[in-house]
Amino acid sequence: MLFAEGSLHRYLRNLVMSLVVNESLKVKLLPDVEKMMICKHLNYWCGQASVELQETLAKMEFSFGTKMLFGHSESKSSKNLRQAYADFLYGLLSFPLNIPGTAYWKCLQGRKRALEIIKSIMEERRASPKKNQEKDFLDLVIEEMKKNGSLMTEAMALDLLLILAFAAFETTSTALTLAVKNVGEHPQVLEELTKEHEAILRNRENKDQSRITWQEYKSMTFTQMVINETVRLGNIVPGIFRKVLKDVEIKGYTIPAGWIVMVCPPAVHMNPKQYDDPFTFNPWRWQVESDQGRRYQQTPAVTFPNGFHIQILEKNI
Ligand code: HEM
Repeated sequence: MLFAEGSLHRYLRNLVMSLVVNESLKVKLLPDVEKMMICKHLNYWCGQASVELQETLAKMEFSFGTKMLFGHSESKSSKNLRQAYADFLYGLLSFPLNIPGTAYWKCLQGRKRALEIIKSIMEERRASPKKNQEKDFLDLVIEEMKKNGSLMTEAMALDLLLILAFAAFETTSTALTLAVKNVGEHPQVLEELTKEHEAILRNRENKDQSRITWQEYKSMTFTQMVINETVRLGNIVPGIFRKVLKDVEIKGYTIPAGWIVMVCPPAVHMNPKQYDDPFTFNPWRWQVESDQGRRYQQTPAVTFPNGFHIQILEKNI
């Protein structure tokens, strides 16, 4: 997906967005995440003397992501998809020398095995499709492939499923690990988070309510500020690549067509002109007072190479 351009990119993006539009978040993702996180993992961790957080969160996010996308179940499957992904990730950024034993070779082998496993899941699903209410992203992709004149080929579908699972679990498990570390090291932040969540519980009309509602989730303003700050400091994706399609002039320099540009998010995230005291974990930086004295939450700023700067203010609801 990262290499698709123009209308193909728009098509793939629209398809992926169906996973995270408000309606899917409300109806499916929020309850599913809660069930997985609270009912399963937090309850289990409570009984443990200690938890190896990074490893556990990666495992948790992987099983959630692959289940959500294509119904993979590690406990039911005999094939080791996680190991195939581990091999794939091991050589993702490596010298491209494709001979046995190199990291690059291992990466390609891992990718090949992962694609084979996803393909066998796809074949099983084609043979026995899911019912309406149980449909997942794989069903959506299969329906797309069946459409007359569809842009979606089988190879493209497999690649999309492989890369989406990677995009979802590798990033979020790192962010969650860093969030726990940051909150653990900042008692004031923990106190404010606890206050926010206890107020939500106190304000419930029905005290027996066991599940988070959409309104409750949307009211977690400070929690969102902690997430923004964790992602800013974490610099989880250190580089984003773009191919220059035509010559671009920036501040007297010309970037020639055909070059690859690496956009470096840490250069923005750690820039003292953009963020005061950028190395400090300070979720409150995401909160600003409006002219009317109302509290707004700042969303991450975007600065383009020509200096154009976007900062969106979201009303604090
Ligand atoms: C903390 C979590 C995450 C971070 C820091 C993150 C970061 C990024 C970044 C920097 C890009 C741009 C890459 C580029 O254009 O070269 C990107 C693209 C993308 N991410 Fe994430 N991501 C996160 C979570 C997720 C999740 C959970 C999903 C999947 C459900 C996801 C799906 C995607 C997709 C599909 C794209 C390509 C979008 C496009 O090309 O239009 N990401 N992500």
